[in-house]
Amino acid sequence: MSSFMKGILIVKLVEARGLTKRGRDPGRPYCVVGYDGTEVLTHDADGVGDGCVWNQAFTFDVCQANAELNIAVWDRAGSAGNEFLGTFKIRPTRIPNKVNDTWFKLIPKDWKERTKGEIHLALCYRLVDAKPVTIDDFDLLKVLGKGSFGKVMQVRKKDTGRIYAMKILVKDTLVARDEVQHTKAERHVLAQCDNPFLVSLKYCFQTPEKIYMVLDYVHGGELFLHLQKVTTFSDERAKFYTAELVVALEHLHAHNIIYRDLKPENVLLDYSGHIVLTDFGLCKENMEYDTQTKTFCGTAEYLAPEVLKGQGYSRSVDWWSLGVLLYEMLTGLPPFYSENTNLMYKKILYSDINFPPNAVSEVGQDILRGFLKRNPEERLGAGPDDAVPIKAHPFFAEIDFDMLVSKKLLPPFKPHLKNLEDVSNFDPEFTVETPKDSFVDPTTLSSTLQNEFRGFSYVDYDENALHQASRP
Ligand code: ADE
Repeated sequence: MSSFMKGILIVKLVEARGLTKRGRDPGRPYCVVGYDGTEVLTHDADGVGDGCVWNQAFTFDVCQANAELNIAVWDRAGSAGNEFLGTFKIRPTRIPNKVNDTWFKLIPKDWKERTKGEIHLALCYRLVDAKPVTIDDFDLLKVLGKGSFGKVMQVRKKDTGRIYAMKILVKDTLVARDEVQHTKAERHVLAQCDNPFLVSLKYCFQTPEKIYMVLDYVHGGELFLHLQKVTTFSDERAKFYTAELVVALEHLHAHNIIYRDLKPENVLLDYSGHIVLTDFGLCKENMEYDTQTKTFCGTAEYLAPEVLKGQGYSRSVDWWSLGVLLYEMLTGLPPFYSENTNLMYKKILYSDINFPPNAVSEVGQDILRGFLKRNPEERLGAGPDDAVPIKAHPFFAEIDFDMLVSKKLLPPFKPHLKNLEDVSNFDPEFTVETPKDSFVDPTTLSSTLQNEFRGFSYVDYDENALHQASRP
């Protein structure tokens, strides 16, 4: 994360050779190119077989010292309009202006598949003049969401053309709602956590009136909207999202962070259908496994009983919320749901869990009973080993967590997108709005309060790593 522009990576997808799937040439291969959380698509290749050519270049902002470049090749003419042909990952070297022109072998996501073929890539890293990033570096494209805090917009960085999500927060509002600490926690968590299932912060900058956070844009929108469309997910689909969330929460817990706001609105789907957890405003830092906190916060349906009781609680509240979310994905509603919030709280505290007939398998019921243990000490995941017993539960028997962490498991559902700016997976209530960075009255915040925001725009880019990597 940075508040300065540092470098760019130019990636040219040149051509492919030897691509085959089930013994035949693919018809319309295209590539999904991901770099440090940003995804772009090539057009469909011209030609087939060894004459398969893209000749298409993309420019990525380099914000992190050691980011991976991820290429996945798909066939638009394959089964169901999208057949996976293979993938590979590299960490591009950082020797400025040196063109690295190489063939890379595709590997399958699943060892049982037989994937063939190679991709010809040309890569070049360039340093750019280090100048502070400001709102003027972006075109505002669409409004994606709004809350009491401010809004989230889809934006395009003018120089590289890359699409990001920009969260804009008004300082006066943050101060009036006593949200400054939450916003600081969010920025701090985003800056220190690097995990494939957590959204990453690219740039952060401020004016006297506002804070701007530029995040990976996550194309597939909220899990909430996808669940609403189909009411329930298959066992396979719910298990896949839950497994990726286990890894995301485990990563936060390993950094002594409790998430505290797990709900389908905060879980986004990326272009390929992997989950990305967003909104770290309620995170609580410095929480060892046995540290307790008392603040009442979260979203009614997902609150653990110990939070409702006003007792101290620890990181196992996240495993309770994950249980609620898994139950909701399998049955269509949270386990203790009521339109009346007080009644819902009573049910969370005292009701038995009921399973609608045939909705949840035996092992599914077993893991849910483990997550939804009212006594936090007996809850699955409550001990010092955190996610270890969760990953070992028979519910996840088919999930290879090593493969899952490296995003090598093919998601069971791929969001439908016309192009990379397509916002049809977001709520039209927001996307119809004209995006603008609204004028707010010049702030009257005292210099003491302004000082509270001092840490927001610092440069934490690892200069040494950059210069060492740049040395020939
Ligand atoms: N909504 C909130 N954060 C988002 C993001 N990073 N990408 C897309 N939509 C979002």
